[in-house]
Amino acid sequence: MVANGARETWSSAGAAPTSAPLPRDEISEFHLRDEARLVGGLIERAVYTADERQRIATLAERLVGAARVGRTKHGGLDAFMHEYGLTSEEGVTLLCLAEALLRIPDADTADALIDERVGSGDWERHLGHSESLLVNASTFGLMLTGRIVRLGRSAGSGPGAVLKRLVARSGEPVIRQAMRQAVRILGDQFVLGRNIESAISNAWEYEKQGYVISYDMLGEAARTEKDAARYHARYATAIEAVGKSAGAPGVENIETLTRRPGISIKLSALHPRFEPGKEARLETELLPDLLELARLARARGLAITIDAEEQDRLDPTLMIFERLLHAPELANWPGIGIAVQAYGKRAVPVLRWLKRLAETTRRTIPVRLVKGAYWDSEIKLAQERGLPGYPVFTAKTHTDVSYLACMRFLLGDTRAFYPQLATHNAHTIAAAHVAGGTLSFEMQRLHGMGEALYEDVVSKSGLARRCRVYAPVGAHEDLLAYLVRRLRERRQHVVRQSSC
Ligand code: 2OP
Repeated sequence: MVANGARETWSSAGAAPTSAPLPRDEISEFHLRDEARLVGGLIERAVYTADERQRIATLAERLVGAARVGRTKHGGLDAFMHEYGLTSEEGVTLLCLAEALLRIPDADTADALIDERVGSGDWERHLGHSESLLVNASTFGLMLTGRIVRLGRSAGSGPGAVLKRLVARSGEPVIRQAMRQAVRILGDQFVLGRNIESAISNAWEYEKQGYVISYDMLGEAARTEKDAARYHARYATAIEAVGKSAGAPGVENIETLTRRPGISIKLSALHPRFEPGKEARLETELLPDLLELARLARARGLAITIDAEEQDRLDPTLMIFERLLHAPELANWPGIGIAVQAYGKRAVPVLRWLKRLAETTRRTIPVRLVKGAYWDSEIKLAQERGLPGYPVFTAKTHTDVSYLACMRFLLGDTRAFYPQLATHNAHTIAAAHVAGGTLSFEMQRLHGMGEALYEDVVSKSGLARRCRVYAPVGAHEDLLAYLVRRLRERRQHVVRQSSC
């Protein structure tokens, strides 16, 4: 029996690390592979014994029960999403509105949108159902707006109608302000701080509960070099500030590093052409910038995670990741992690490739396993291009099976991997707890989500698992893409179609 958190380490003997690139052909072969065939293989990898299944079911039930009790206490987004489920007409309306209002600069268009989207909702239905102040405040605001807009529309040309129209009209800027405010309130639930300083000070609430943080600087898909330079500076500032607040780095090994905060980096933020076919440019232009950030992070004792984005960017991400691992100035540093999306058909081959990379570079790679947040756009893009298949699983259950298979794979080799299992699903958390036993790994959740569910997971009197919160930092202007992914992801649990 291994001690809690124990791991095997690479012996110093054996083959010298080689820097020749590992072929990625096997990964590419899985790109659009037949879903049914693929799932058959994944099911075999995701097997649990009858006893394990029983333990998982019991634990999942306990976690859900505790989360139900805790939900009203935590309020915030959990309560909000529970109320709307974001599958109702109103939920979808809110989602579209949130997306659009943050983007629309002129007042007239914003008003027209509010009129069109909000006028038809049955907001009263939700009022008073939830104990959470946020839910009721937002519902109230929307209800009020819905009423006024409806009043404006139905006003005819009678004497009172003119007055009503006037009220409706003079009310619109007020409504617009209120709506923007409501969206800001919603946004505040998702960001830990508008700048890194406030995020660091807000992180204290989490740290005293036993969580560590991965700071995510909002901003992605840089359009110009100027954008990329701005994001780069933001990452560098964040690394300095987080490093300072985390104190002296200590011993440079995976156990020490993973008990400290980390930084998540989106490569598309660092280069305006982070896409396939641009490998040569990325190597000369993006890699040096990334190396600089990684060096800074190493000096501060902070691990970095290369975030997963669209499926198109997977191959260049792996190419850059491998280059980072071979960089002489980062040699022997186990602080370079990567996120892998289980909804991608290439997930298992990517893990197999990463395992070989860990072996050839003789290091432990932290891998954040996620389900994937770009589902809507992946499906749309594949259809638009007329591809013969999809790069992601189309059925939610297939993604779940893939996640369990990937989890087994990661936990099966904690010398090659430090598994970072990111999920808000009670059953998946329970499966990780049962399959992971005393191995060294952590669970992750997003700031503003899964709070009640994780209470029992992180607490010393509960599962006492190592847990990390992925926490976005930034202004509302940069929140949009992230926010929409969260709302869509939530909606996909039930409905898989886009209505925006
Ligand atoms: C996202 O940005 C959490 O990395 C994930 O949607």
